[in-house]
Amino acid sequence: MRAVDIIGRKRSGLELSAEEISFLIDGYSAGTVPDYQMAAWAMAVVFRGMTAAETAELTMAMARSGDQLDLSAITGIKVDKHSTGGVGDKTTLILGPLVASAGVPVAKMSGRGLGHTGGTIDKLESIRGFRTELTTGEFIKQVNELGLAVVGQSGDMAPADKKLYALRDVTATVESVPLIASSVMSKKIAAGADAIVLDVKAGGGAFMKTVEDAERLAQAMVAIGTETGRHTVAVISDMNQPLGYMIGNALEVAEAVETLRGSGPKDLEELCTTLAAHMVVLGGKAQSFEEARLLVQSKLQSGEALAKMSEFVAAQGGDPAMVNHTELLPKAPYQLEVKAARAGYITAIEAEELGLAAMHLGAGRPTKEAEIDHAVGIQLTCRLGDRVEQGDVIALLHARQDGAAESRVAEAVRDAFLIADAPASARPLVLSVVT
Ligand code: URA
Repeated sequence: MRAVDIIGRKRSGLELSAEEISFLIDGYSAGTVPDYQMAAWAMAVVFRGMTAAETAELTMAMARSGDQLDLSAITGIKVDKHSTGGVGDKTTLILGPLVASAGVPVAKMSGRGLGHTGGTIDKLESIRGFRTELTTGEFIKQVNELGLAVVGQSGDMAPADKKLYALRDVTATVESVPLIASSVMSKKIAAGADAIVLDVKAGGGAFMKTVEDAERLAQAMVAIGTETGRHTVAVISDMNQPLGYMIGNALEVAEAVETLRGSGPKDLEELCTTLAAHMVVLGGKAQSFEEARLLVQSKLQSGEALAKMSEFVAAQGGDPAMVNHTELLPKAPYQLEVKAARAGYITAIEAEELGLAAMHLGAGRPTKEAEIDHAVGIQLTCRLGDRVEQGDVIALLHARQDGAAESRVAEAVRDAFLIADAPASARPLVLSVVT
């Protein structure tokens, strides 16, 4: 078999066999297929696409390229959740305890933030003492005993995807539904998921700007799940504004705890109960979405989900007092007001701009190696559709200092709010579900 022939077949729009796809991915991992051939093939995929069978083969070949987590020692159906990247997205912090309290084991590997997006692991590390590295034995034991563990990515999972993604990034081949879908799903499968719930974001702050594009991506990922025997459901949710009011690590932990108390922002609660209910159905703890939704709502109302959060934090070495008294979380010394530039209705809040602004305050990482400040971030004080007057406070910067850099961030935050004379038509947070 020769890579050049496989590239030629894809260029002509033909369907590749499982053997041809494995040949490329295994060869790329081993270094026998060079970057230039992989880049040519990726570009052919951008133009010609891939069938569902090819996409599933690519996913499995990438999942097999490195370590694969074996979660078979955990009793029950392990349902993983993945979000395609949002700003202010603290859903894992809420879903973990919520789903575990409904009886579905959550064995989750999460990432760190980079650029404008935050990472669950950084958020959890706002809690004093919280350990995000557990041995596999500790991880499995904790999930079996408590129903929940969240750790940072360890080992070398789906290295072929990592290498290919870096290549796509510099060859203008990221924007391909089958390549994105297989990239995401290969990592979930390598992490040991039996079933997967995807939160696919659509809007200004998301990878997929329109609902139609988000649905195409969701359908491709659900199809991979079907082909590979992992029941997958995708929820398309709006990212035309950040999720909830808080952006920044400790601020997001506090908001997640509020939501587990039942007094968080309604949009965040709605998305979390929707995702949790799908996880509970896939985990076999309810027959229907409606039954599952009532179950998770009862876990929020009874305080069981919040109690699970405290137990989980304590089990991983964190200080549970910080869950019960979120005022003990790291706190920034300054709260700087950002004021509306004009009167009118808020018609858009550019999530990506706010994510970048939070990064400039120190809440995120401009480079992989950068240190982050858990205390700083942005607190929104209004939402899409709100009416504001000129000079009204629209956000607070939780900052380490009050200098020229913070003033520049304040300007960027102010500019991220689009204000018009008439309100824009509202759209729901949960836009559609692909099963
Ligand atoms: N996120 C991924 O993990 N992979 C892609 O290809 C795009 C976004």
